[in-house]
Amino acid sequence: MKLFLTLIAGLLCLSSCSPETPSDKEKITESKETFPTGEKSASGRTLYEANCAGCHDASVGGAPKPGDKSVWKARLATGVETMVKKSIEGYEGTAGVMPPKGGNASLSDEEVRTAVAYMASTVK
Ligand code: HEC
Repeated sequence: MKLFLTLIAGLLCLSSCSPETPSDKEKITESKETFPTGEKSASGRTLYEANCAGCHDASVGGAPKPGDKSVWKARLATGVETMVKKSIEGYEGTAGVMPPKGGNASLSDEEVRTAVAYMASTVK
């Protein structure tokens, strides 16, 4: 019962609390648990906003920001497949740490791919 109430509180918070910018990395990784996972049919943008924007919109830990060509150029040059693989498996780069699937293990590989495709489309 207690768990159930916590869950309800969490859901209410999801719809009413602002998801905006916890300032440090730890908070963001923690709050991942309550992020919506996105439907199979969700668009890349929706998936991105729900799962990736927390770091990428604010360049947390050096995360490349959509629309900023200068930080994507070298990444795009490696090919979308490479970027998708690194996003699914996670990696540590020169800027910072990209957690596997952005920290949301419930995302399917396909959902991560769709979100990466959206990010790539903002800098083409
Ligand atoms: C906890 C913060 C965080 C979250 C959440 C996050 N990322 Fe990242 N991501 C990073 C950081 C930091 C980097 C840059 C690492 C580096 O290159 O040094 C990065 C890099 C990337 C790259 C560039 C990969 C490359 O080949 O250079 C892609 C693509 C990417 N993330 C996709 C995603 C997607 C898709 C999501 C959501 C499913 C996501 N990220 C969520 C922190 C995050």
